[in-house]
Amino acid sequence: MNTDKEKISVLQCWSVSNEFGCGFAALLIRQWNTGKREMRMTQLGQSITRLDARAKVTGEAAFPGDINLPGQLWMKVLFARRPHARIKRLDATKAQAAPGVVRVFTARDVPVNEFGLGSKDAPVLVADEARWVGEKIALVVAETEKQAEHARDLIAVEYEDLPPLTDPRDAMKPGAPQVHPAYAGNVMKHIPIRKGDVAQGFAQADVIIEGEYHTPYQEHAYLQPEAGVAYIDDEGRVTVVVGGQWVHEDQEQIAHALALPLDQVRVIYPATGGAFGGREDMSVQIILALAAYKLNRPVKIIWSREESIIGHHKRHPMWIKHKLGATRDGKLVAAEAQLVSDAGPYMYTSPKVLGNAAFGATGPYQVPHVKVDAYAVTTHNIVSGAFRGFGGPQAHFAAETQMNKLAEKLGMDPVELRLKNVLREGSLLSTQTPLPGGPVSLPQVVQKCADEFGWGKRSAVSGQRSAVGFGFACALKNIGFSFGYPENATATVELRGGATIEKVIVHHAAAEVGQGTHTALAQMAASTLGVPIEKIEMIVSDTAQTDNAGSVSASRMTYIGGNAIKGACELALTKWHEEERPARATYKYLAPQTTQLDPATGKSKPNLAYGYVAEAVEVEVDTETGFVRVARVTCADDVGKAINPRLIEGQIEGAVVQAQGWTIQENFQTREGRVLTPNLSTYLIPGILDVPEQVDSVILEYPDSDGPWGARGMAEMPFIPLAPAIIAAVHNATGVWFDEFPLTPWRVLEKIKRAK
Ligand code: MOS
Repeated sequence: MNTDKEKISVLQCWSVSNEFGCGFAALLIRQWNTGKREMRMTQLGQSITRLDARAKVTGEAAFPGDINLPGQLWMKVLFARRPHARIKRLDATKAQAAPGVVRVFTARDVPVNEFGLGSKDAPVLVADEARWVGEKIALVVAETEKQAEHARDLIAVEYEDLPPLTDPRDAMKPGAPQVHPAYAGNVMKHIPIRKGDVAQGFAQADVIIEGEYHTPYQEHAYLQPEAGVAYIDDEGRVTVVVGGQWVHEDQEQIAHALALPLDQVRVIYPATGGAFGGREDMSVQIILALAAYKLNRPVKIIWSREESIIGHHKRHPMWIKHKLGATRDGKLVAAEAQLVSDAGPYMYTSPKVLGNAAFGATGPYQVPHVKVDAYAVTTHNIVSGAFRGFGGPQAHFAAETQMNKLAEKLGMDPVELRLKNVLREGSLLSTQTPLPGGPVSLPQVVQKCADEFGWGKRSAVSGQRSAVGFGFACALKNIGFSFGYPENATATVELRGGATIEKVIVHHAAAEVGQGTHTALAQMAASTLGVPIEKIEMIVSDTAQTDNAGSVSASRMTYIGGNAIKGACELALTKWHEEERPARATYKYLAPQTTQLDPATGKSKPNLAYGYVAEAVEVEVDTETGFVRVARVTCADDVGKAINPRLIEGQIEGAVVQAQGWTIQENFQTREGRVLTPNLSTYLIPGILDVPEQVDSVILEYPDSDGPWGARGMAEMPFIPLAPAIIAAVHNATGVWFDEFPLTPWRVLEKIKRAK
């Protein structure tokens, strides 16, 4: 790209050219470079400025909705908006004849009408039976967005509404109608974990705590709703520019549905306005590709907030029965849990979420006798899927609340109780194997969190008019796709120059969804090569120019993608020293192998690495209004190695706010499968006045044996223990245990009143 073009903003670049090979980050880095600064060696552990900071702050960064192509058409989706119905007749004649309409697509038009991450069990467009409100029935493509919207409303669909099955506990009962032909008995997945003998374990217990818990839905509420544009590129490839978490997975699913060879499909991610697991499954990717492919014209879509909330999956609600036994001196002897998760009608990532939940049901503790049964159950509710923590938050809420109740019953300090029981080096998990990857630092993490918070001599920073309380919880989080998945990532690095390295070109598919992964990866490259960050040019997130790096999910990219970068840099450097110019190397990192859960006992090496986290919170409960305010949070995380500490603080603060929203405020409501809170005026996420006044991020660095420079993934961890820590603090303030949330004022007030 020449100098003049460099000055063109990203946005203009998109509109004037159909040649997008340059990669956005490269452009962003150049803009960022224009600030005069001394070129210094970039180190790990340095909080360098994010590569995309300037573009994001000035508004120059192009998000999918900002990108316009000459001659583009607009798409609107007709959603079912009913939880369970048979399509008796669909007549698009009027819509097809409406002004500006180019084409109406229905199920008949999709070559291979199926998609899904865990299993391709969902239709792209529904032919006969709609199983949830966000099911897509038809697509309208027109010259303008308004015309597409108008015509969408002219599509005549005659439905036969069928009774929806909306409680997974009912759906599991014998004789319940079957939601999906593939899942007999409506149990999509059952995970049993068996260790020791729980009957014998409970016989040894002096104290037994039994509880029943419920965790709610959560909506991802990312800044930009689903959007994108698809076109045929210069090489004839169906190209989709969209926000997502894994370009190569999107490419695979699009190619499958369109019955095209993989290399005929290209997926590019520009700036993406948040993901949190919500972009792990398909939303607009396949439908955009279908329209551009069939019409041979660029097609664009932007979902409204309401369409986004109706149209993508939510965090799994779970019902958890939990029984925990301990001796008088606080040693855990047995745990038994049953977890029922509402999957909605299709698989999405339910098995992964369920695996983590089953695994998390015993918390981060050594328990000699364990019996866990976790179920993902199909219903006609909104589909469930990935959301930060992948089932960990739900399971830990139950496990950690049980621990806090146990501490109360034993009259023991909750931190002391934890230190007696947390997993340590050599401890066996519920899956009967030790934890891999370097120091099991839970004792240190728990102690450090308590020390930094001042747990031993806790005193309120809060005001005096309300009840003040303190709570504590901890967790572990796996890194990577687990349970036997062959974890890997590939990166390519090219070194240019003569006597010295003048320029480094990094090809990496990692999705930048706002977490700062491109910055961390560039920082790793710069430090391996011994060059300043300014010399790194990133070519990113484009299936035509990057190899598979896997998903930005499961806290895996710093670890797995970082190892690929490190390997590629080291190989390229060897070639450089052998005088190759340019020196170019591709490296595929293969992570330590995990194993599948034994179908009867769950015995396995489920995960390849872990991160550890503890949180202490102080809350203020207004006993007159029921309003819960989080005054401060101390969050201690063992991240192995902090590549960029400020980015880690950003992840901690973001996760804390998001988890606080889930615990106190966000209240996703459905009735008979219909969504009652389809916009941000009814689904309330934390605003600036709701977030904790103080979040103290405490970063520990006990290196993982296989992580790059010892780094462990960390972006999900801080979410996981917050709900049980807040619940414990509210109990400490009011004397009342909440086994379900969100802690909306009415719920808090009602329970406090009843307890009086
Ligand atoms: Mo996430 S739930 O790891 O995409």
